[in-house]
Amino acid sequence: MPILVEPDSTTAGVLTSALPGGAQVVARADEVEGWLNGRGEYALVIGPTLEMTAAVGLAERVRTGHPGTSIVLTRLELEPQVYAQAMQAGIGAVVAADDHAALGTAVTRARSTWEAIHGPTGVVEGERQGQVFMVFSPKGGVGKTTMAVNLSVALARTGVEVCVVDLDLAFGDVAITMQLIPEHTITEAAVSEDDMDFSLLQKLLTRHESGLTILAAPTHPEGRDLITASLARRVVQTLRRHFDYVVIDTPPGFDDQVLGAFDETDECIIVATLDVPTIKNTKVAIETLDLLNLVPGNRHLVLNRADEEVGLNQGNVEDILGIKVAVALPSSPAVASATNHGQPIVLSKPDHPVSKAIIGLAMRLAGESAHAKPAEPAKRGLFGRKK
Ligand SMILES: Nc1ncnc2c1ncn2[C@@H]1O[C@H](COP(=O)(O)OP(=O)(O)OP(=O)(O)O)[C@@H](O)[C@H]1O
Ligand SMILES: [Mg+2]
Repeated sequence: MPILVEPDSTTAGVLTSALPGGAQVVARADEVEGWLNGRGEYALVIGPTLEMTAAVGLAERVRTGHPGTSIVLTRLELEPQVYAQAMQAGIGAVVAADDHAALGTAVTRARSTWEAIHGPTGVVEGERQGQVFMVFSPKGGVGKTTMAVNLSVALARTGVEVCVVDLDLAFGDVAITMQLIPEHTITEAAVSEDDMDFSLLQKLLTRHESGLTILAAPTHPEGRDLITASLARRVVQTLRRHFDYVVIDTPPGFDDQVLGAFDETDECIIVATLDVPTIKNTKVAIETLDLLNLVPGNRHLVLNRADEEVGLNQGNVEDILGIKVAVALPSSPAVASATNHGQPIVLSKPDHPVSKAIIGLAMRLAGESAHAKPAEPAKRGLFGRKK
């Protein structure tokens, strides 16, 4: 999708209407490379109020750092020297800011160039079937959100499009864990359950500089009451058509919305810690999953804080739960510190043992889910994701 850099929010709003859905707007030139480094984008549109020296400097950096990204410069006045400077900076197209048709054509051409290099980016809604991972535990505080966010970051590092859905509707903290202040939340989807489509959900998403996208939980606990089980399922169903992975963070235990989302879940990551109440409740939860025949062959047990000496060990847990530990994460102050700084540990310390373990799990899950769906050809969504 295109990135628009435009300091003036009103001008940005007007220009966005001429761009394809999903365009990302940034206000400052120095924010652009953060987005491009997350993954490539086919077009960078430079808005008319970014002054020419900054525009040229940005274009030169993007031209060398991201040669696949076409640069489209918009200006209020198309003076001859603008073309000369643009050419020198490697800007592919210069258009008048109010000529939306020309802007649309330039962006379409940019997309064709990208597709010639990287393969097609377009997909008709309904074709894609991204994988849905749910992070679940009957207990609070065991590390579900830590796992959901870091797993998502680990997946997104490979260049795929990932959306984290915060289904902890009363006390969700995915946004704060990533230092994001969402303008919109899932609550706003409630009014449109019957005619839900991606264009509606897209407006509710919040982007993180890592390239991750989140659908935030309601800002107040009462927002939860507006989200029905079928709405939760519809949200996930709609998002998976546009993202390679949808990762769902959940509240402790089964609530209606979690059960709704289970219908769309391919892989369930069950997080447990080494304490008797957690293991006992996890056992009951697994029995419930069995009873409901949910994700029978797709459960992955994550043992968090697995190195704590508390009289239980990994072997005991496997025996009690009847499921092998897929990954054991040590307890580390760096994890809590990363949470408190709004920097998921996989991003801030990718070489930390916890990060390595989560990255390993992400790669395995991605491999397993790809293996489970071999017939699906590589497709790309509105966001031009790469497979
Ligand atoms: N391996 C670990 N080592 C140290 N701290 C950890 C570890 N895993 C999680 N934490 C910390 O434990 C706290 C609880 O983790 P988290 O919020 O992920 O749990 P949760 O299961 O989502 O909780 P809730 O049910 O309340 O949503 C956080 O402060 C987090 O940073
Ligand atoms: Mg949580």
